[in-house]
Amino acid sequence: MEPTSNAVVQRAYDRVARVYDFFFGAMLQPGRRRAIGAIASRPGLRVLELGIGTGLTAEMYHREWNVVGVDLSKSMLAQAEQRIAKLDLGSTVRLLQTDGARLPFADNTFDVVLAPYVMSVVPDPIAVGRELSRVCRPEGQILLLNHFLSHNRIWARLERWVSPLTSQAGGFHTDLSLPWLLSMTGLHAVNVTSVNMPGMWKLVTCVKQGVFALQPDSPPSLTYSQTHTSPAS
Ligand SMILES: C[S@@+](CC[C@H](N)C(=O)[O-])C[C@H]1O[C@@H](n2cnc3c(N)ncnc32)[C@H](O)[C@@H]1O
Repeated sequence: MEPTSNAVVQRAYDRVARVYDFFFGAMLQPGRRRAIGAIASRPGLRVLELGIGTGLTAEMYHREWNVVGVDLSKSMLAQAEQRIAKLDLGSTVRLLQTDGARLPFADNTFDVVLAPYVMSVVPDPIAVGRELSRVCRPEGQILLLNHFLSHNRIWARLERWVSPLTSQAGGFHTDLSLPWLLSMTGLHAVNVTSVNMPGMWKLVTCVKQGVFALQPDSPPSLTYSQTHTSPAS
């Protein structure tokens, strides 16, 4: 993956915050719905949403959850704050400007960690993936909603080719490989489902392994075949 930096990402999202919903709201909402629907809900559920952006998931939150939404971009968070106030969800959702690669939470703080359309934006997806796992409790859910490098060789070649352009323009990488991410972070995926039209995004449900199940060298198990490894440099 082409390296970017938090500063590039932050600037890009600060710039688009006011128009973000127009371009990425309705179009990507089916995936957000699937992700929230996959959460094993119960009163008092502690949820972390990484890269909450303008808060497009907020309307789907259950009022009895305790949600913390974090994001790098102050302007995206300002939009989220307005939305949360309008929805009267102030006692359900807390917002915090912070970096997903250095989360200010103790180990095992959350029951569910959700990252919608974020992993291909963060400059260091490995560090972020490990942080998500660290702050999730054992047996908790980690839900990654994202575009990943295609299994189709021709399409994957195109995605690798355009990735340097998209990452410089908006900090978005089109060549993030899911098997590579899972193996580098130790995340354990139990289900991968295609979402949104035309199925180019995936909802990846991971379950954090309990302390006795942790085997850092074991390959991640997936419900679909893994045909490629790390992204080409
Ligand atoms: C493509 S937007 C997705 C926003 C929202 N989750 C959605 O569903 O539309 C990516 C978001 O991730 C945030 N982000 C990028 N890198 C981040 C990081 N390292 N830590 C926290 N948030 C980050 C960006 O500021 C932006 O709001």
